[in-house]
Amino acid sequence: MRAIGALLGGWLLVAGTAIAQTAIRYNAAEHVWQISAGQMSYALGVNDKQSLQTLYWGPRLDPAASFPQPKQLPEAASFDPGIASSPIEYTGWGGGLPYEATLKISFPDGNRSLQLQFVDAKVTGDELEITLKDSLAPVFIRLFYHAYPEGILARWSRVENRGKQPLTVEQAGSATWNLPPRATYDLSSLTGRWGAEWQLQTEALYPGEVVLESRRGSTSHQVNPWFSIGSRGETTEAAGPVWFGELGWSGSWRITVEQTHADAVRITGGYNPFDFSYPLAPGESLETPKFYAGYTSGGNGEASRILHRFQRQQILPQRPHPKPRPIIFNSWEATEFKVDEAGQIALAEKAARLGVERLVIDDGWFGQRNTDHAGLGDWTVNPQKFPHGLKPVIDRVRALGMDFGIWVEPEMVNPDSDLYRKHPDWAMNFPGRPRTEARNQLLLNLARPDVRQYVFGWLDKLVSENDIAFLKWDYNRNWSEPGWDAVPLAQQKEIYVRYVENLYGILADLRKKHPQLEIESCSGGGGRVDLGILQHTDEVWPSDNTDALDRLVIQDGFTHAYSPNLMMAWVTDVPNFLDRRVIPLDFRFLVAMSGSLGIGGNLNNWTPEELSTATRLTAFYKEIRPTVQFGQLHRLLRPGGPEGRETSALQYVSDDGKSSVVFAYLHSQHFGRPFPTLRLQGLDPAGMYRLSPLDPKKLVIASPDPNASPERNGSQERNGSQLMGEGINLALSGDYAATAVRLERIR
Ligand code: GLA
Repeated sequence: MRAIGALLGGWLLVAGTAIAQTAIRYNAAEHVWQISAGQMSYALGVNDKQSLQTLYWGPRLDPAASFPQPKQLPEAASFDPGIASSPIEYTGWGGGLPYEATLKISFPDGNRSLQLQFVDAKVTGDELEITLKDSLAPVFIRLFYHAYPEGILARWSRVENRGKQPLTVEQAGSATWNLPPRATYDLSSLTGRWGAEWQLQTEALYPGEVVLESRRGSTSHQVNPWFSIGSRGETTEAAGPVWFGELGWSGSWRITVEQTHADAVRITGGYNPFDFSYPLAPGESLETPKFYAGYTSGGNGEASRILHRFQRQQILPQRPHPKPRPIIFNSWEATEFKVDEAGQIALAEKAARLGVERLVIDDGWFGQRNTDHAGLGDWTVNPQKFPHGLKPVIDRVRALGMDFGIWVEPEMVNPDSDLYRKHPDWAMNFPGRPRTEARNQLLLNLARPDVRQYVFGWLDKLVSENDIAFLKWDYNRNWSEPGWDAVPLAQQKEIYVRYVENLYGILADLRKKHPQLEIESCSGGGGRVDLGILQHTDEVWPSDNTDALDRLVIQDGFTHAYSPNLMMAWVTDVPNFLDRRVIPLDFRFLVAMSGSLGIGGNLNNWTPEELSTATRLTAFYKEIRPTVQFGQLHRLLRPGGPEGRETSALQYVSDDGKSSVVFAYLHSQHFGRPFPTLRLQGLDPAGMYRLSPLDPKKLVIASPDPNASPERNGSQERNGSQLMGEGINLALSGDYAATAVRLERIR
């Protein structure tokens, strides 16, 4: 366990907030385990029928807290068995369970019923392991619990066949989370589609089931495996209870949120049971993905901050101290498939002058890749575009003081490619059936060991033979025809698990062999962002939509679930390719600067004035970068929705509380309304701060009168309580006006 702030007597201090350490305690008299992680406690116990039950999930408790005995509830009616209302910790389907089961198994004798009973438990440091067993069959389930000091509990499970007969797992969840019974919960989720990911939806829960899922073989643009549940009328951005979680799996997944007839609310997540079956021969086992969850009383903002901190400290490959994301230039929107040596060197020269730190050549550099109709699979440098290989470009990029990255899409093949002509059997397919193309491409079946070896082989060669610091790993379609006829029929559906395991395996092997290599997870934008892939990749591309106004909404949704340092954000050209909207350059920059900044416009067409704006803003970004990428985010004014149509604002505060930065965006002014006063958050009320506005003319401190003459002397000093109480006023007017203000604590 690593401390991010000062470690004081068993407490962790982060920006003045004390975060308790983890603890797992067993109370033998009550037969209860209490797990504490950050602001949360979780308790479970065993009843007289040896059934493991959830006893508590909520605010952190005193270690000596005691719990009511987990009694088996009586039948409420002949239609509502006791099992239906009991907060069972991990449900095996059987005994008339009318709700989602965490686990469902079929046995060769026709039995499909489980009755899981407690066997034993073991605590090792921050980890609790509980073993359950079916009352009759030799099936053992290991439940794992790992407590993290940031306030997250990870749960996952392993199903073990210790009998002499094979069995088939038909449904395998990682965990079921039971909430305190209540009829007034709101569920938030993140939904979308290509170009419109990360739309935050909030709906009332009522008896029935909400299914969040992907059947697409990967995480999906349509729903992200994240949930957040608040108390209706009570939970806001800044306060109130929030139960939240996310699944670490990049294949087909499912999270169900059920409210039972008795207002019990349970969340079950893991492998998607659709088209799923996984045979276990005697001695074999199946492990599920990890399902991470937390609780806070500090509202949706604090729930996000817990997740951000957790991802940076515990999930990312460079944990617990991920390196700052460099400012990149990416060629895609600038030159699309028309990449070549001279063109990319010309862009590199211009990018370097702006302060860019990494040049990334996107699609188009390999095989016969002149359009999206051909070339995927043929990962050799195109000799017409790069007659001397990649070396001259990389050498020039390095000489300009930048490092070099390149786009790859390793899991795909175009039928028009040498690879497909040689190995048509490598593409996922059902024998004898048509192969459904999307963007003119098919999926390679990565579950096959020979495909895994081929993919690792060429990637390793590419990275070994060239000075490559970064791969943008793309994935531009969903699954169809998920057949795998090279293995016996009973195992063919293992493809859903084995594919993703091999994907993680390739990424892990590459990183092990090339420890300096950094990788981005891209899937036509944000189609593969989850806590599974993030253990192998350093950043993600949230959306192909680079329109700055849409991006404000996309980025707002994204930060509900994932850390801003992961969120790559490019400044691209206008009119935007998607919305045809024309937004001024400084607004586009300020939107991208609230994540990990990049540039994707065609610099050959930028005017001297635009280039100088870009140079000034990249320099400013470098100053605020640690605060934006590693600080605590406060969403002061959220875009979208009735209040955020005209304006939005964000504030980041560094973990040590010494620096902060505020971004303010006026999307469109109406009826002469002044920009709302921004009451800052997360500062020390007694601290004194120096404010350095990006544009001094736009800062009108603590003056309620928007027409008061702006103070023009640049930096000013105010104390934390004034900044959080009276706030700051910004003289923004017109459409697409934006600015930023830096704060440094001086005493
Ligand atoms: C996907 C990515 C884009 C770009 C193109 C290239 O759409 O999301 O950023 O790399 O592929 O074909």
